[in-house]
Amino acid sequence: MITAGGRVVDQVMLWCALACFAAHLQLSETRMEEPDSKYKSMEAHTQSIEEQPEPPRETKLGNCFHMSRKDCPIDTKCRRIESDSVFCCDVDSFRLKEALAITMTQNTTNLHVLNATIDELVVSQSIFRRLTSMALTDGNIGKIVGQFPKIASIACLNISNNNLSSATLQPPDHRPFSNLFNLTVLDASRNNLTKFPVSLVQSNRKISVDLSGNDYLPCKDFLKVMETNNSSLVTFVHYDKTKCALDLRFNWFKDVLIMPIDHLRVQKELNISCRNIRPANSNCTCVPDRLELMDGVNHVAVQVDCSQRNLKEMPTNLPPNTAKLNVSYNNITSLQPVSDPSYEHVRHLMVDNNDIANIVELEGTKFIDNFMFFSITHNKLKTIHTYVLSNRLETMGPLLLISGNKIHCDCNTEKVIKPWLLENLKSIPDFKGLRCEDNMGAVVDLRESQVCHTPRDWTDYIYYIIGLEVLILVLLISKVSYDYWVFKTAGYLPWPANKMPRLPCDWLCE
Ligand SMILES: *[C@@H]1O[C@H](CO)[C@@H](O)[C@H](O)[C@H]1NC(C)=O
Ligand SMILES: *[C@@H]1O[C@H](CO)[C@@H](O)[C@H](O)[C@H]1NC(C)=O
Ligand SMILES: *[C@@H]1O[C@H](CO)[C@@H](O)[C@H](O)[C@H]1NC(C)=O
Ligand SMILES: *[C@@H]1O[C@H](CO)[C@@H](O)[C@H](O)[C@H]1NC(C)=O
Ligand SMILES: *[C@@H]1O[C@H](CO)[C@@H](O)[C@H](O)[C@H]1NC(C)=O
Ligand SMILES: *[C@@H]1O[C@H](CO)[C@@H](O)[C@H](O)[C@H]1NC(C)=O
Ligand SMILES: *[C@@H]1O[C@H](CO)[C@@H](O)[C@H](O)[C@H]1NC(C)=O
Ligand SMILES: *[C@@H]1O[C@H](CO)[C@@H](O)[C@H](O)[C@H]1NC(C)=O
Ligand SMILES: *[C@@H]1O[C@H](CO)[C@@H](O)[C@H](O)[C@H]1NC(C)=O
Ligand SMILES: *[C@@H]1O[C@H](CO)[C@@H](O)[C@H](O)[C@H]1NC(C)=O
Ligand SMILES: *[C@@H]1O[C@H](CO)[C@@H](O)[C@H](O)[C@H]1NC(C)=O
Ligand SMILES: *[C@@H]1O[C@H](CO)[C@@H](O)[C@H](O)[C@H]1NC(C)=O
Repeated sequence: MITAGGRVVDQVMLWCALACFAAHLQLSETRMEEPDSKYKSMEAHTQSIEEQPEPPRETKLGNCFHMSRKDCPIDTKCRRIESDSVFCCDVDSFRLKEALAITMTQNTTNLHVLNATIDELVVSQSIFRRLTSMALTDGNIGKIVGQFPKIASIACLNISNNNLSSATLQPPDHRPFSNLFNLTVLDASRNNLTKFPVSLVQSNRKISVDLSGNDYLPCKDFLKVMETNNSSLVTFVHYDKTKCALDLRFNWFKDVLIMPIDHLRVQKELNISCRNIRPANSNCTCVPDRLELMDGVNHVAVQVDCSQRNLKEMPTNLPPNTAKLNVSYNNITSLQPVSDPSYEHVRHLMVDNNDIANIVELEGTKFIDNFMFFSITHNKLKTIHTYVLSNRLETMGPLLLISGNKIHCDCNTEKVIKPWLLENLKSIPDFKGLRCEDNMGAVVDLRESQVCHTPRDWTDYIYYIIGLEVLILVLLISKVSYDYWVFKTAGYLPWPANKMPRLPCDWLCE
């Protein structure tokens, strides 16, 4: 039982812990969302020409003609740079057409249009036929229609930063880029593409592709390209800044997960270690979650989903750096395997809808010292061993979910668990869902009179017994005194003393 003094001590300790926590708050920000430069860079060596309006310039195939804004023509919309290049700025489709008609010659092979506002870019126009480098960047292109002509010699295509979406890039009926057999550099970065330009990268040709800044491209397309690395020879420019969308409908949050494509390489290795989870055939799925600082080193934190697998025990031998584990909807009865070394980095544990009876086996595990989220709803907990959790819950941040359990309620529950729930209600948002068995209602609604009457009854009863015993003693003494008095005066023993057998002690008395 908790005494008033004990509670005061608890409160003091809690405030101390809070004060310490506040002091170290800045230190605890260790999570990192994005890799910086740790990953191997696979940048292509595209020798773009920039910030040099006049100097001589090689026009090798594959080179991209690119000028910067400060070189924009001042009076006109377009200007010729050397004999083979044209540079335009800030045009709409009408002005572009007009200006190109004037500046483009038979000899023009390079074109850069900066900030074009075009509703429909018709790529089948004959003026584009002779180009080897075509760039329409930093503008707004509503739609790309038509198809590059079959003999197009474009080696470099830059459509970076045009607010393009896939719907406007690849109309369902045809693919605008399918004829670009000489393309070696494609810069489609900083758009909003959601479909991978598969036709471009599935040819037997070396190609550099920049798809950074398009966060909704499906990971499976990148995966395919990376797997067939040999034949397609695709190099991803800005590899470490290129991200893809993983559709997690069947795994985790019923949502897409945007992740660096380097995680796909990680995923491959992960798939192997995922198969080694015991028990064998547990058929769990493993996905990289995010980059996380663990033991001072950046690792890709791993999510493991073993839910609804008919497991009878907690899985062990989890992949390295497993940070989240979902084993909901199984038939697990014990948390003992959480002490397995592979649980070392687990911070989120979901064991909802199982048959776990207690959490005492978590005592002393690394998990219980470090967890951020522990959900053990709808299990068969009979009690809450509050001391196992209390240390962790004294810090801010960790969440515990325990609703849907029906624990055994007695006076101890009312005196210990109920105040514990109320003290930690910020960490246990579903505290009202912890109920008592036998339809006794929520634990937080327990009243002393409901469960704690037995002790008072017992005390009352003790007094009755003592009273009764005193009464019997008094009667006994009076009877003995009476017997003695009768024996002394009348010389005989009254009933029942006269019927009692002689005992050795009687002998002594005489
Ligand atoms: C882009 O061009 C349009 C005209 O077509 C102009 O209004 C706009 O200011 C330009 N944007 C930038 C960033 O210069
Ligand atoms: C195209 O280039 C050739 C030789 O390189 C040159 O003689 C001709 O004048 C150029 N034509 C134009 C329109 O610049
Ligand atoms: C494609 O490039 C090759 C050299 O790599 C060249 O011989 C060929 O003419 C080019 N094709 C076109 C259509 O420009
Ligand atoms: C394409 O255009 C963008 C935006 O102007 C530029 O940053 C990038 O370097 C260009 N890419 C190539 C390959 O020239
Ligand atoms: C990008 O395109 C969408 C339509 O696809 C348009 O609503 C939006 O305003 C554009 N954003 C910019 C910055 O032009
Ligand atoms: C890019 O596409 C996504 C998903 O289609 C959309 O939510 C987002 O608003 C788009 N961004 C821009 C700038 O158009
Ligand atoms: C392609 O394979 C080479 C070695 O064969 C490797 O160095 C490179 O990283 C691979 N590229 C990708 C994108 O996987
Ligand atoms: C990659 O190329 C090597 C030899 O160059 C070959 O042995 C291997 O099977 C190829 N892999 C794929 C996936 O094509
Ligand atoms: C865990 O798995 C169950 C069953 O697949 C799912 O309903 C639940 O949302 C998952 N929990 C989390 C936190 O993803
Ligand atoms: C990993 O396994 C999942 C299925 O469990 C599969 O969808 C995915 O493509 C695999 N990833 C790699 C890189 O092998
Ligand atoms: C593993 O799970 C997938 C779906 O998650 C299922 O299609 C497959 O049959 C399962 N395999 C085994 C051996 O249970
Ligand atoms: C596991 O539990 C479910 C209900 O949660 C039950 O239907 C199923 O029969 C149990 N499986 C085993 C093997 O006990």
